[in-house]
Amino acid sequence: MKENYINSLFSLEGKTALVTGAGRGIGQVLARDLARAGADIAIFSRSGAEESVKLIESEGGKAVSIIADCTKEEEVRAGIQKILEIYGHLDIVVNNAGVCYHKDIFEASVEEFRECIDINLTGEYIVAREAARVLIAAGRPGSIINIASISGTIANIPQRQVAYNASKAGVMQMTKSLAVELADHNIRVNSISPGYVATPMSVDPNFVEPELLEAWKPLMPMHRMAKPEELSGAAIWLASDASTYTNGVDIIVDGLYTAV
Ligand SMILES: NC(=O)c1ccc[n+]([C@@H]2O[C@H](COP(=O)([O-])OP(=O)(O)OC[C@H]3O[C@@H](n4cnc5c(N)ncnc54)[C@H](O)[C@@H]3O)[C@@H](O)[C@H]2O)c1
Repeated sequence: MKENYINSLFSLEGKTALVTGAGRGIGQVLARDLARAGADIAIFSRSGAEESVKLIESEGGKAVSIIADCTKEEEVRAGIQKILEIYGHLDIVVNNAGVCYHKDIFEASVEEFRECIDINLTGEYIVAREAARVLIAAGRPGSIINIASISGTIANIPQRQVAYNASKAGVMQMTKSLAVELADHNIRVNSISPGYVATPMSVDPNFVEPELLEAWKPLMPMHRMAKPEELSGAAIWLASDASTYTNGVDIIVDGLYTAV
C-alpha cells in the first residue's frame, strides 16, 4: 500500500518528456532517469542523440532523437510537432541544452556573449514558449524544468565567465516570470541550479584545464563534484504530480557550494 502510494506519487507513466541537449552529460542522465520513472522521452539535439536513445531502449524505455537547435524557432516548432505525431502529447520539458565559455569581459567577443545568452537563455525561452502553446491547445497540465546553475547566483572563481553567469541569472528570473504567466494554464515552471557536475562541460581536459579542477576543490565543502544522477531526484519530483504546488522556484543542488 505504502509502496503503491509512493510509486504513483512520483510516477511519470503515461507522460511524454522532452529533454533538450540530451546527447550526453546531465541531459542524457536526466532523460534516462525520467524514462526509468515511466516517461516516454524525446530528445532535441543538434547532431542526433542515438546513444542516449539506445541506452533508454536497452532498459525497456521509449525514446526518440529529434534534430532541433533550441535557438531556432522553426526547428523547435517542427520538433514539437514531431513529438505530438509520435507520442500524441507532451507533458514535461527539461530545458537542459547549454554552453559555457571561460572568458572574461575583455576576452569574450560580443558575438560569444550573444551566443551564450542565445543558447542558454533565449533557447530555453523558445522551447518553453512552443511547448506551452501545444499544452494550452491540448488543455493539458505541464511541467517545465529549466536547468539554471549556481552561476545564476554567484560569480564563479577563479575562472571568469560573465556571459554564462548572466545567462543563468536570466534563466532563474525567466523561470519565475513564466511560472506566473502560465499559471492560469496549469503549466508549472521551475528551475534546478546544479553546482559543479562531472560532465564533459566540467571535466573534459579540452574544456577545463587541470589546474582549474584543483582550484575548485577547496571551494566545495563536500570535496567533490556531483554525479549527474544526483540531479535526477529533483527532476523527477518537479516533473511529477508530487510537486503540483511547487511553482516558480529554483532548487539548488550544489553540495553546499553556495552555503559558504
Ligand atoms: N556540468 C556542470 O558543472 C553544470 C553546472 C551547472 C549547470 N549546468 C548546466 O547543465 C546543462 C547541461 O550541462 P552539461 O554539463 O551536461 O554540458 P554538456 O556540454 O555535456 O551538454 C550540453 C549539451 O547541450 C547541447 N547543446 C548546446 N547548444 C545546443 C542547442 N542550441 N540546441 C540543442 N542542443 C544544444 C550540446 O551539444 C550538449 O550535448 C547546461 O545548461 C549547463 O549550463 C552544468
